[in-house]
Amino acid sequence: VVSYVSSADGIRHDQLEGGFFVGWPVNPSPQRHLELLRGSYAVELALDAGRVIGFATAISDGVISAYIPLLEVLPEYQGQGIGTELMGRLVAQLEGLYMIDLSCDARLEGLYEGLGFQPLDRAMGQRNRDNLG
Ligand SMILES: CC(C)(COP(=O)(O)OP(=O)(O)OC[C@H]1O[C@@H](n2cnc3c(N)ncnc32)[C@H](O)[C@@H]1OP(=O)(O)O)[C@@H](O)C(=O)NCCC(=O)NCCS
Repeated sequence: VVSYVSSADGIRHDQLEGGFFVGWPVNPSPQRHLELLRGSYAVELALDAGRVIGFATAISDGVISAYIPLLEVLPEYQGQGIGTELMGRLVAQLEGLYMIDLSCDARLEGLYEGLGFQPLDRAMGQRNRDNLG
């Protein structure tokens, strides 16, 4: 049975050892993963039998804007609505802000449009992989 929590308080790094960051150039360790959860403005975690099997994070100024950098569900749990549930809960936490941005692959536009997101003209970014591990 999958349950959801809106905080990383009390989560240990060994609960994050399921194999997140699939396909990333360097995998942040479970310790780094816990650190980024604790450093986020808002988080949503999905748990099964004490193991974190999905997560989403938001960073924010707490006044008008937020950005959602990370959403991932472990491969063996995908396709069951968990990603949609995590995002819906995270967006609900951000109610009251003016802008909530994220960038995503084209294949995921349907997921986000269903949650009230619309395509923006263009996004830009840089990736410094030396800072990942
Ligand atoms: C994106 C992700 C979090 C979705 O999690 P999930 O629990 O499988 O999502 P859901 O079951 O709620 O499905 C949401 C929608 O995404 C689609 N979807 C999910 N995984 C998909 C995949 N691998 N390829 C194509 N579509 C996918 C589902 O078909 C569904 O579409 P629908 O609502 O039109 O039926 C998950 O696939 C994942 O962790 N992917 C790797 C990391 C990633 O891409 N993160 C998003 C960064 S923007």
